[in-house]
Amino acid sequence: MIGRTSGARVSITGLGCHVPERVLSNDDLAELVDTSDEWIMSRTGIRERRIAADEEALTDICLPAARRAVEMARVDPASVDLLIVATVTPDMAFPSSSALLADMLGMPDAAAYDLSAGCTGFVYAIAQAHAMLAAGLAQRALVVGGDVLSKILDWTDRSTLVLFGDGAGAVMLERVGEGGFLGFELGADGGGGANLWLPGSGSRKFEDPERFVKMNGREVFKFATRVMVSSAEAILDECGLTVADVDVYVPHQANVRIIDHAVKKLGIDKEKTIVNVDRYGNTSSGSIPLALADAADDGRLEPGKLVLLTGMGAGLTWGSALIRWTHETTGALA
Ligand SMILES: CC(C)(COP(=O)(O)OP(=O)(O)OC[C@H]1O[C@@H](n2cnc3c(N)ncnc32)[C@H](O)[C@@H]1OP(=O)(O)O)[C@@H](O)C(=O)NCCC(=O)NCCS
Repeated sequence: MIGRTSGARVSITGLGCHVPERVLSNDDLAELVDTSDEWIMSRTGIRERRIAADEEALTDICLPAARRAVEMARVDPASVDLLIVATVTPDMAFPSSSALLADMLGMPDAAAYDLSAGCTGFVYAIAQAHAMLAAGLAQRALVVGGDVLSKILDWTDRSTLVLFGDGAGAVMLERVGEGGFLGFELGADGGGGANLWLPGSGSRKFEDPERFVKMNGREVFKFATRVMVSSAEAILDECGLTVADVDVYVPHQANVRIIDHAVKKLGIDKEKTIVNVDRYGNTSSGSIPLALADAADDGRLEPGKLVLLTGMGAGLTWGSALIRWTHETTGALA
């Protein structure tokens, strides 16, 4: 799917993120499996990651992120009428984590559902929320991306264990006067699905060890380096823009080598690229909003800046969004 946005302008008016307190370094991992800081740093660029406590579930880490986004947007939570949580690690299959979160946040009028598109989930979710707002079906949408992949990793499998971490981010989407989302490109290839999957997690029966994440790292690497470039180029082309127009590039934070490859192939300035995979590892659906929050903290998200988001992940899926940044809030509580 690819398209330029039409209808009302929609933008991000609030942004928040949250990570669990516990930090796990590469040296900590080397005590659990046969790996080393040198191997992990040279192959992935990851130095450390955050890991949820035993009792912490997805909504526990999404809630503070969501509250921050609501506060920044200065809106009454009760006025939010759409809540989408992008995740592959909901608290449980049902009720949805979004329904639970809507209750915790005081959003009784919100349509609430979870969305599963692997690490691309956040980009898929903002595209959906955008469409609902632009079409006038909803007035105010909270989109949360988060995962606690530590709960579904095989803690004896070094090939996956070292890559992932836990974290969440949230954005408020509202109609604005200027700027906002310009277009989206989203795709999926289920044929490659078994390269990154959680086989024993649904109605197809698998034996016990299949309840952990399994990955063909080399195939995913090849896929990632291809789609991170093709998706970004496609959306820029669709919107009549070029790489030179991009002010801030927010790629999915899976591996610094994948990011470096995309930066080089696309010809994007490295200074324009947000990288925090060294601190958080791959947080799946939390990755892009966590990186956006870093960009905001650095003061890079100034009004008028063109921001390119590109993600890829399980599915296999990929997706890009282009947004002309705005600082506008609807001032609902002003
Ligand atoms: C996983 C990944 C880092 C592996 O890097 P790589 O350079 O392809 O490494 P290889 O898979 O070729 O493995 C090289 C060797 O390191 C070993 N190895 C794998 N994981 C290791 C670890 N954590 N520590 C030490 N050695 C490890 C392998 O067993 C292999 O050993 P061998 O040569 O004796 O068989 C890389 O393929 C990757 O990043 N893939 C994409 C994964 C991803 O981003 N997934 C999420 C997408 S949302």
